[in-house]
Amino acid sequence: MKLQILVVAGDGIGPEVTGEAVKVLQTVAELGGHDFTFREAPIGGVAIKAHGTPLPTATLDLALESDAVLLGAVGGNEFNSLTPDRRPEAGLLQLRQALGGFANLRPAFAFSALTQNSPLRPEVIDGADILFVRELLGGLYFGEPRAWDREANSAWNTMRYTSDEVTRVARIAFQLAASRRKKLTSVDKANVLEVSQLWRATVTEVAKEFPEVTLEHQYVDACAMHLMNTPRNFDVVLTENLFGDILSDESAVITGSLGMLPSATIGGKINLYEPVHGSAPDIAGKSLANPLGAILTAAMLLRHSANLEQDAQAVEAAVKTVLTEGYRTPDLARGQSGPNVLNTQTMGRHVLRTLTESIDRNQALHAV
Ligand code: NAD
Ligand code: IPM
Ligand code: MN
Repeated sequence: MKLQILVVAGDGIGPEVTGEAVKVLQTVAELGGHDFTFREAPIGGVAIKAHGTPLPTATLDLALESDAVLLGAVGGNEFNSLTPDRRPEAGLLQLRQALGGFANLRPAFAFSALTQNSPLRPEVIDGADILFVRELLGGLYFGEPRAWDREANSAWNTMRYTSDEVTRVARIAFQLAASRRKKLTSVDKANVLEVSQLWRATVTEVAKEFPEVTLEHQYVDACAMHLMNTPRNFDVVLTENLFGDILSDESAVITGSLGMLPSATIGGKINLYEPVHGSAPDIAGKSLANPLGAILTAAMLLRHSANLEQDAQAVEAAVKTVLTEGYRTPDLARGQSGPNVLNTQTMGRHVLRTLTESIDRNQALHAV
């Protein structure tokens, strides 16, 4: 298997967590005899500082030549006064648009070793396994018109969707639901917004292609509550861009930390892989970041861009094992200290050790 991967580590904890994810990919390649090559390019705040723009042409060109793009995070407090089009985040949005992936898969899984970590009761979250399918190229993020008219003290954005945009992401969500527990919850605000009425009508139409999947609709406000109350009732959650942004961060409560959540964006020319969390300026540069979200993101890359399902599962199992052994990063330790509370790199090393052992074991089994 040959794969050209562009790593755009970005800002804050981005380089810290992608560093560990890349080591995992390198290990999988080495042990499996795959030819993965890694190139690096600046994006976000570091790119603004070095090149005056959050997405330099050279970065974009490299991304478009690659088989997959792995992103860390972008953003930092020093850029907070810039207008949206000049901020680090604009670089990420431009990259998403150029790569073309519109279906952002954000799994939120309650690892049994972590059920004590959530502020929710273990019996509420135990077994929760939700896959958010967030539409990534439409809605308020990209809708026109948008502006801030400073003289009029007025600003506006537009939430706009075409039925084609809804249909294509809904099809992916239904396909995924068909391969899971066959339930799809479509989330909207159809009691208030025309764009949500189009969303709901379109999803209902697409559902006819998937009679084996049960479709339910929820309003986003109620969904935010149901997710915390009865997370086990959800299988696939399909929603538009901003609602998906918010609900997926909320679902971090189920896992115990935002640092645990991975994502993959599919459906376009080139898939984009990024943990759900941001650049975490409050802990950046201190080796305190949880790399497991980025490592689970690497597993999604193996699954969706390299067709290495077994290796993807081996990475996920290694994360599970390390957590079961009791190892924690500070976000998961919740104020406790001790020899099992690890920094970013040591947590990465534990995953690598477990992963290497399990791949070696598999290879030995197959050699017999
Ligand atoms: P954030 O996700 O960076 O951090 C929220 C909280 O979660 C912080 O307390 C942080 O310390 C913690 N956290 C996040 N990831 C963690 C990890 N891996 N390990 C341990 N703790 C972790 O969100 P924010 O503070 O609202 O935003 C900071 C910047 O990141 C902003 O500029 C924002 O726009 C940007 N952002 C970027 C992305 C991305 O690049 N994909 C995603 C979200 C936010
Ligand atoms: C995310 C982030 C991004 C988003 C920002 C940084 C543009 O919050 O990936 O969840 O809103 O999509
Ligand atoms: Mn977000």
